[in-house]
This record gives sequence, C-alpha cells and structure tokens, in this order.
Amino acid sequence: MADSNVRPESMERITTEQLALKFIDEQIADIKAKVGDSKVLLALSGGVDSSVVAALLIKAIGKNLVCVHVNHGLLRKGEPEMVCQVFRDELGANLIYIDAVDRFLGLLEGVTDPEKKRHIIGEEFIKVFAEEAAKLEGIRYLGQGTIYPDILESEQGIKAHHNVGGLPPELNFELVEPVKLLYKDEVRVVGKALGLPDKMVFRQPFPGPGLGVRCPGAITRDRLEAVRESDAILREEFEKAGLAGKVWQYFTVVPDFKSTGIKDGKRAFEWLCIVRAINTVDVVECTVEPIEYDLMCRITDRITHEVPGINRVLYDYTPKPTGTVEYE
Ligand code: XMP
Repeated sequence: MADSNVRPESMERITTEQLALKFIDEQIADIKAKVGDSKVLLALSGGVDSSVVAALLIKAIGKNLVCVHVNHGLLRKGEPEMVCQVFRDELGANLIYIDAVDRFLGLLEGVTDPEKKRHIIGEEFIKVFAEEAAKLEGIRYLGQGTIYPDILESEQGIKAHHNVGGLPPELNFELVEPVKLLYKDEVRVVGKALGLPDKMVFRQPFPGPGLGVRCPGAITRDRLEAVRESDAILREEFEKAGLAGKVWQYFTVVPDFKSTGIKDGKRAFEWLCIVRAINTVDVVECTVEPIEYDLMCRITDRITHEVPGINRVLYDYTPKPTGTVEYE
C-alpha cells in the first residue's frame, strides 16, 4: 500500500472496470502484506468511501475486519437496513450494528443552535465508536475512507481532515487507507467493480449530522419522521423520473413552522415541507435543478397525503449564494 500521501504523476486515472480490477488486486495484496493476521476496525456509515474500503478489506482479510455501523437516528429511511443487508448478509462482513437512536436524540432534545447540534452529533459519534472499540480485543488497525481531495484540502488548510466521526486519538491505531490516492469518481468505479449496489456507489452526498440539519431548530421525533418520510418520497420520485445520479443533491426540510390548511374537510394546522434540489461542481456555488411542474405536483401530492403532519410543499429556488445547500 502506498504510504505516501502524494499521488504519483504517473498514476493512471481509474476510469474502467479493468483498471479498477487491477487496483483491487494490488490493494488486496498490499493490505494482506501490511495487516497480516491482525484485526482492522472500520466505522461503516454506508457512504461511498467507507463502503468501498469495507468491501476491499473484506476481500483482503475477511472476518478480521470488524465493521461498526452506528445508527444515530438521523439516517435516511432504509439506510441502516441497507448497510446490514449488503455487508452482513451479502458480503458476510463481521458487522456490529449499534442502535444509538435514543442516546443521540436524548442529547439533542431542546438544542436549537445548529453548530451545537453538529458538535453534539460529532462528539457523541466518537464516544460511541470509542466505547465499542474498547470492548474489542486484538484490534491494531483502523480502516478509513480517506480520499485524495481530503488529503489535498487538509494540506491546503481548507478543512481539517477527519473522516467518519474522526479518529479517537487515545485509541492509537495504525491507519489503513486503501483509497487515499483516489478521486471520488475513481472510488465509484472501484465500488462498481467490487459489486456494490448502485444506490450505494452513486449515493448523493449526505452530511455527517444527517437529517439533524434538515429538521431546523430543536429536533422532535415526530418532525424528524416527517423529514425522513418526505425525503424517502422525494428520492423515490426522483429515481422514477430518472433524476437520481444526475442531480447532485436533493432532499427535504421541515422547519418548525405551521400553517393553516384543510384535510378531509377539516382545518389542519400543520408543518410545511421544503424541497431542495441543487447542482454544482465544487459545492462553493450551486444552481437550482429546474424540476418539471408535473413532477413537482406529484411530489407535493404524495408528501401532503402520505406524510403525517404536512399540509404544504414548497420548492426552494435559491441558488448558493445567497442560500447554502443545507438550512443549518
Ligand atoms: P452547505 O450547506 O455548506 O453545504 O452549502 C455544502 C455541502 O456540505 C454538506 N454539509 C455537510 N457535510 N457535515 C458534513 O459532512 C456537515 O456538518 C455539513 N454541512 C453541510 C452539504 O450536504 C453539502 O453537500
């Protein structure tokens, strides 16, 4: 495994399955040589990078990879189930699933400040992961889904690199980062070649604090469910319309605001749901996806009829700037 953090100029861009298979073979040999019979621990979020690292490590060391999937209650509908199905059932991973929903939502109760919410989620994630690591014996390495842009941004001082929840320093593991010299598009090609499902490989970006930043203000379980259900409907309709994988990022937000409406002939004082769909190259500036009128009507109809507590749907036409992608 290349221990250097510099991508050699001679390194060919991985654009085809054939090149990906060659990369996979090389990485498996390198991982085996480095890790031997030791165990590797990996925080598996279900994102592209950690999923590809997990699949590579499973091929290289099998059950000596211990994957930990923390459900903090802020994941999208079906996500924890998909991680368990793909990795435990299909790939035979040694996967520890941690249901930490009550723990996270309890700590977030009544917290309205967005940065405080982010901080609580990040800190707690590290705590839960470290607690789990402390229970395990014989772990020497930590797998990480670091990719090349993380290294470049970290070196340029743009952002401190800390992957999925960050490495708890007191754990003192050695790192295994098999995709650290790859760009995102290459990671996807490798993921496809490893046989991971498209919905994992071409997954849209999803923030670490998850749906927590799409439930503005203090998170309540009922409003969080409204975010999760409306997001699932939006994703389903985008998939049917052939927009999944084409639009950069799309999601719903349910602010803590109610308006008067009518349901079943009765006054319904309920939340509104905002739909956001944006395109970008670098996330510094974003344009709004021009959703077709008929599609937007279908999404509105489904969300207002299928999601309890929502009586209106709005489409956000704000580019970045002046808006940011997320609402918090
Ligand atoms: P903003 O809202 O800053 O979002 O325009 C730009 C991109 O970053 C994602 N995002 C986050 N990702 N932790 C993350 O891992 C965060 O706290 C966070 N906040 C925003 C956002 O989804 C978008 O892709």
